[in-house]
This record gives sequence, C-alpha cells and structure tokens, in this order.
Amino acid sequence: MSADPPPQNTYDDPDFFAGYSRLERFGAGWTKAFEYPSFMALLPDVSGRRVLDLGCGVGQLAHHLAERGAAEVIGVDLSERMLELARAERSHPRLTYVREAIEQATFGSGRFDLVVSSLAIHYVADYRGLVRRIAGWLVPDGILVYSTEHPVYLTRAGTEGWIRDEAGRLLHWAVDAYAEEGLREEHWFKDGVRKYHRTLASLLNGLIDAGLSIERVIEPVPDAEQLRRRPDWVDERRRPFCLLVRARKT
Ligand SMILES: C[S@@+](CC[C@H](N)C(=O)[O-])C[C@H]1O[C@@H](n2cnc3c(N)ncnc32)[C@H](O)[C@@H]1O
Repeated sequence: MSADPPPQNTYDDPDFFAGYSRLERFGAGWTKAFEYPSFMALLPDVSGRRVLDLGCGVGQLAHHLAERGAAEVIGVDLSERMLELARAERSHPRLTYVREAIEQATFGSGRFDLVVSSLAIHYVADYRGLVRRIAGWLVPDGILVYSTEHPVYLTRAGTEGWIRDEAGRLLHWAVDAYAEEGLREEHWFKDGVRKYHRTLASLLNGLIDAGLSIERVIEPVPDAEQLRRRPDWVDERRRPFCLLVRARKT
C-alpha cells in the first residue's frame, strides 16, 4: 500500500499563481528559459505522431507540438487556472486539454508515440510507478522526453541553497541529505510547496527498469550567448537547475 500524500494542486493557489505567472518563462516567455534549446533538441519529428504532455501548464509545448504536425496531442494538468489559460490562448484542433492528476491518468497500452513533460515530474511521489506507466502507454520505439528539477537543486540545504558571506555574496551551493529520497517542502511564492527528490541514479535507473533505453541526458546551463542577454544568469552555471532526458522504449 502506498502512503503517498494526494497530489497537491499548488498552481491553483491564488498567491502562488500571482507569483508564478510573473516569471519570465511563464506563458509566451517559455522560449526564454535557458533550458529551452536543449529541450527542443531532444524532441523527435512529431508529424503524424500521437503525443501526451504531462503537466502541460498553459499549453506552450503541447500547442507547439500540435503546430509542428502531431496527429493528436493530449495535455494533462491538475490546475484549472493553468488549463483555463491554455484553452483560451493555445487551443488547436488536434490538441485536447484534460484536467487530471498525472498520478491518476490512465491510457491504453501503446496509445502514444511520444510522451513529454516539462518540469512536472518532480511533483509526483511515485516516480518508478509513473515511468512504468509511461512505458506501457508508449508504442515500441516510442520516446519519452522530460525535464525535471535536478537532484542537486532539489535537495539543497536550507531554504535557499546558496551559502553567502557576511556581505551577501554567494560562496557556494549546499547540497544536503542527498541520499534521503522523497518529500521536500519549500517556500516558493507560498509555504509548503511539495516536491519529490530522487537521486540521479534513481531517476536514470527508473527508466532502465521500466524498459526504456536512455538516449541522451542534458544538464543545461546558460551558454555564452544566453549570458550576453542575461548576465544575471551567471550563477546558474555553478549548479544544475534541471535535468533533461530522452529515452526510448525498446
Ligand atoms: C513548473 S509548471 C510547468 C508547466 C509547463 N509544463 C511548462 O514547462 O511551462 C508545473 C505544472 O505541473 C502541474 N502539476 C503539478 N503537479 C501535478 C500533478 N500531480 N498532476 C498534474 N499536473 C501537475 C502544475 O499544475 C503546473 O501546471
């Protein structure tokens, strides 16, 4: 029996949403996220493909894939606020938005050619169970591309992670309790935002154990061109924020 707490619908909290929706990467700003080129590089040709986007948010990626010629895209998200914007601003005849928890989503075997997920998997308690279900939903040779918060980022010490000197300058990033997998609660626009930490080995072995073969792993950081546009991102090169993976059902 699983003792996992029920999915937390953080993004429908008005205070959280007010903060989150002001991020540069929100909505149309998604192409400005520094991991965007890396994520795009992992995507296969989607023309004629059936695609599932887990934690689709306001629908940028799902809509992009529909525009790129996917035969069908299903975007799943728990937040009505996020889906309301997705439906209003990013509708498409071949794109359907479904309000549902990732944990509760069920599809038939071999239902999708491609499953994508951008920065949502770290909200799911049972990672191994999820990737096994995804592997079941994929056709043979089907592909999973996801980004998740990096273990080094997620299991930071204290609330901020950065250790500073007396003048407030960043000294280094502190990782703590790396081997203790599971729930991490943080203050992010509101108290008690729940995420789940997994070691890098657990993330990658979970894919292998589900019958997926890992094709590419990226730990994106801003490159020189991005730093010219955003010099304030320089510290993002000091520790990874997210992990990107492409895996194929063998
Ligand atoms: C950081 S946002 C990312 C949104 C979008 N994929 C993007 O990259 O812009 C995380 C999204 O995952 C959704 N989410 C979080 N936990 C979820 C769950 N258990 N089931 C479904 N959606 C969830 C949130 O509502 C939110 O829209």
